[in-house]
This record gives sequence, C-alpha cells and structure tokens, in this order.
Amino acid sequence: MHGLTAHKQVERRTWATGDYDAMMRTEGLYAVGARLVDAVGVHPGETVLDVACGTGNATIPAAQAGGQVTGVDLTPELLEVAGQRATRAGVEIALREGDAEQLPFDDGHFEVVVSSFGSMFAPRHEVVADELVRVLAPGGRLGVASWTPDGAMGEFFRAAAPHLPTPPAFVDPPLGWGQETYVQELFEGTGVPLRFAREHWTITHPSVAAAVECYTTLFGPLTTGRQLAEDEGRWPAFEADLTALFEGLDTTDGREVTFPAEYLLVLGTKDRS
Ligand SMILES: C[S@@+](CC[C@H](N)C(=O)[O-])C[C@H]1O[C@@H](n2cnc3c(N)ncnc32)[C@H](O)[C@@H]1O
Repeated sequence: MHGLTAHKQVERRTWATGDYDAMMRTEGLYAVGARLVDAVGVHPGETVLDVACGTGNATIPAAQAGGQVTGVDLTPELLEVAGQRATRAGVEIALREGDAEQLPFDDGHFEVVVSSFGSMFAPRHEVVADELVRVLAPGGRLGVASWTPDGAMGEFFRAAAPHLPTPPAFVDPPLGWGQETYVQELFEGTGVPLRFAREHWTITHPSVAAAVECYTTLFGPLTTGRQLAEDEGRWPAFEADLTALFEGLDTTDGREVTFPAEYLLVLGTKDRS
C-alpha cells in the first residue's frame, strides 16, 4: 500500500496548488453545494458529515440549514479556507483532516452524509462508498454530487487527461461516480437503495483565454499539470487543446464562454435493520 500512501501525499499537494476558492467563485459553483444540501434535506440539529469538503461547498449551507456539521478533507490548506468562509457566513462547523477511504469517525455517527465533487476524486471508489455507508446512522440520508462523463465537465477532464501525469493503476476513474449503473454497483449490498437525478449548472467565463487561465492557474490538478508541462515544453499543446475545448463548448458565439456542466445527484436512505 506504499503506492497508495504516496499517491495521497501527491493528491494533498495537488489540491493545495492554485486557488480552489477563487475558481469556485468564478464558476459560481458554491450554489451546487447548497443545491445538494437542499436535495438531501438537512434539519436543525441533525449531525452532518461532508466528505472531501474542500473549501466548504456543502459544509456551510448544511450548517446554515441548522445541521451540526463536520467537514473532512485530505487537504489542510482547503480546510483552512473552509473555516474562514464559515466565519464570514456566521456559522460554526467542525473541520477535520482525514481520508475518505478511512473516515476518522465511528460507525453510524451521522444522520446525514454528503459529498460534493469529492468522493469521485478519492482513488478506490468501493472503499469510499463503504465508508460513507459505515458512518451513516440507520435511517440516515446520503447525498453525493459528481460530474458526469457525458456533460461539459466530462469533455473538460478528457481534454486535460493526456497532458496530466498518468494516475496509478489503483485509481478508479473519477467520472464513474457520474454514471448511474457504476454508482449502483458501488452500493450493491450496502443497504442503501439509491435514486438519481441529472442536473446542470451553467458556467460562464469572460473569454476562451480567461477559461484556460482560470483552470490552469486556480484548479489544483491542472495548475500542477501546467507547471509540469511548462517545465517539459509541452504547455503550447496543452493550451491549444484546452482552447479548442472551450471554443467547442461555448454556446454564445465567442462573446463569452458559457457551457452547461452536468452533474449526477445520488440520493439514498440507509435501511434501519
Ligand atoms: C473538486 S474538490 C471538491 C471540494 C468540495 N467538496 C467542493 O464541492 O468544492 C475535491 C476534494 O477532494 C479532496 N480529496 C481528494 N482525495 C481525497 C481523499 N482520499 N480523502 C478526502 N478528501 C480527498 C481534495 O482535497 C479536494 O478538496
């Protein structure tokens, strides 16, 4: 498992690179964390865990809904930003450094467990699904949001992948969490019947160049990839592929770059027996 430990150290550094919070604000994506919380339904006083919470996309709205919320993430730098955002929002949240594959909580500890664009980026998806279910109380509710392979974000990750370091063989494909049949299999036999909904969030950037710049200077995985590509003289090809991608996705004839990003909402309730 040495490779796994080393991989997680690399991931932690990667997600701390760039400025994730600035990217989220540019994309308006904090609205999707609120949407996930709304879809799963958080009631005052309920215990809530946000897995791979990053800068608090779902953590903060869950606390605003009255939940006693804990956010857990691999990357301390992002947890620090989550704490600052919570203070500005006037809510209290507990934050904990930890791994989605080995959650540092007792069995059945939470009435609600959510993950927005988080579980998909942990390497072994069955291990993560089992952990989400383990910490969920009987009768507790689960809500997960993930990018689908079919939407604009799917195209985005496919365009970037050839320019990024090849992930180790034990890393499951992140976009799997965006496919109903794949997720159904992950939760087979866990006692959490699932329902699914595909939804969209429209992302706008002022121009194609601004979109390329946003993702390659703010989003950790691509920022790291760009730095490596620049060092190795591969950046022009990487930049050209991203430029072509955003030109193709754009629905506004170049005045700005606007595209609908599709995500899969997975909702479920854990059996009581
Ligand atoms: C795309 S961000 C999503 C963050 C946040 N949930 C949101 O909706 O903005 C992916 C997050 O997964 C975290 N992450 C990646 N692998 C992880 C793991 N094995 N355990 C916990 N967090 C992990 C990263 O640190 C990062 O915060």
